[in-house]
Amino acid sequence: MGNPIQRRWFPVSGFPGLLHASALQKVGEGAVDPASGFIRQPLFWGRPTCSYIFSINTREHLRLHHLNLRRFREETAKNFQVFRNVEHGWSSHQMQRFVSHSSLLFCKHDDLYLIDEFLAFLLFLGYIAAVSWEAGKPLVIQEVEVAPPQAMEVRMKILFTSLCHTDVYFWEAKGQEPVFPRIFGHEAAGIVESVGEGVTDLAPGDHVLPVFTGECKECIHCLSAESNMCTLLRIDTDRGVMLADGQSRFSINGQPIYHFLGTSTFSEYTVVHSGCVAKINPLAPLDKVCILSCGFCTGFGATVNVAKPPKGSTVAVFGLGAVGLSAAEGARYSGASRVIGVDINPNRFEEAKKFGVTEFVNPKDYDKPVQEVIAEITNGGVDRSIECTGNVNAMISAFECVHDGWGVAVLVGVPHKDAVFKTHPVNFLSERTLKGTFYGNFKPRTDLPGVVEKYLNKEIELEKFITHEVSFSDINKAFDYMLQGDSLRCIIRMDD
Ligand SMILES: NC(=O)c1ccc[n+]([C@@H]2O[C@H](COP(=O)([O-])OP(=O)(O)OC[C@H]3O[C@@H](n4cnc5c(N)ncnc54)[C@H](O)[C@@H]3O)[C@@H](O)[C@H]2O)c1
Ligand SMILES: [Zn+2]
Ligand SMILES: [Zn+2]
Repeated sequence: MGNPIQRRWFPVSGFPGLLHASALQKVGEGAVDPASGFIRQPLFWGRPTCSYIFSINTREHLRLHHLNLRRFREETAKNFQVFRNVEHGWSSHQMQRFVSHSSLLFCKHDDLYLIDEFLAFLLFLGYIAAVSWEAGKPLVIQEVEVAPPQAMEVRMKILFTSLCHTDVYFWEAKGQEPVFPRIFGHEAAGIVESVGEGVTDLAPGDHVLPVFTGECKECIHCLSAESNMCTLLRIDTDRGVMLADGQSRFSINGQPIYHFLGTSTFSEYTVVHSGCVAKINPLAPLDKVCILSCGFCTGFGATVNVAKPPKGSTVAVFGLGAVGLSAAEGARYSGASRVIGVDINPNRFEEAKKFGVTEFVNPKDYDKPVQEVIAEITNGGVDRSIECTGNVNAMISAFECVHDGWGVAVLVGVPHKDAVFKTHPVNFLSERTLKGTFYGNFKPRTDLPGVVEKYLNKEIELEKFITHEVSFSDINKAFDYMLQGDSLRCIIRMDD
């Protein structure tokens, strides 16, 4: 599945300003391609925003290398003549596109070391994204244009992203409002490429995690110690556009492609509100901490921040996917003595042992409600339960299986849009508490850097959640793994 990646090439003659500017006479030794050691001769256009070098390997495919611009410049400055008059003949729009979307010219010739008779090409103007055109149909890997960030937005280069069940629900659109064409993805890590007006706490080069629910730091929720439901930037699953102007930043030949959760990380570049971006320690490995961007923090926080199991307590976790196992990790972290895993997929049980789950219950093995089974094995019910399935019956069971007098149940799964939670009010009267949470009640900008530090200090483990890895062009495989119940988290590498 997935189309092969194709890139468009434009001869310089299509860009009048460049022909003029290409009166460049001499290009000395090129930069060394760090991956292959192959010598290149990119014609370097000296704009401070140029931070990517696209080089062509005439024998193989096009590859993208991220180089340190300053180092590149220092190494090559004496040999490269900088284009100076490139603005000539360009509208500011073309200019903007060039500055923000490409960066470089380079020459292609039978003999790569000659420059006199070069044929220059301007590299593609778009970025590669996985576009979902229709509910339940494989994503299509294709070029999209990604507009520059507007006020209070950042554009970031995604390096790693992973698939969460929430992407799958909205892609299937069986129980959710369909919004297509759309770019899914909300669990990711990357690097800020550029920032829009008014963004002061993020700069190009920052290592960041985008988060589907934001933190403006000014609203009544952000000012409350108890809430992460920012009035401005709280999760909105139906909105496919940016807040600043109600427009999408993605397009293909002028057709808008909608955003998802304000993050749309299944794209080489994406535009996100700066309030939905957490700056993290640059030493953190992005291919691991990307799962903090949703799954891990959601489950871990649901336990640690919301359920708050006392030491020695018994915790039930419904749904043993990455979110549920993160909730189990939270139970272990809190010192729970029994963690009961509930899942209808028995293949999850073996794996869940690594996450401190001590007992397993498969509701399918019983002909009575699972809450009754749990009440029997726990002498009246669990102290805490965390629901991470999205199934409304599991939600009801998760509530009804907590002990009367003190039991607390926390709902995390995203339900079908028509789901109705039904229980007898006496279950509340007998002093059970029902709560729910997005993103484990973490305030993304304030709290996420600290969770990253916990990982770096080895207080929490992320590696065990990563069961699969695929290259971006194989992104549809990540959907298959999740649908078949095979994966916890499948990391999608963008640079391959
Ligand atoms: N509240 C939030 O902020 C938030 C954030 C991320 C994900 N989510 C939601 O959390 C849920 C879990 O996400 P995930 O990525 O771990 O998904 P996943 O598909 O990897 O795991 C879900 C697990 O639940 C099990 N399950 C399904 N129905 C069940 C039932 N009736 N009883 C017991 N087990 C059942 C499945 O077998 C599976 O193992 C999804 O609903 C997702 O949309 C919520
Ligand atoms: Zn998620
Ligand atoms: Zn706010």
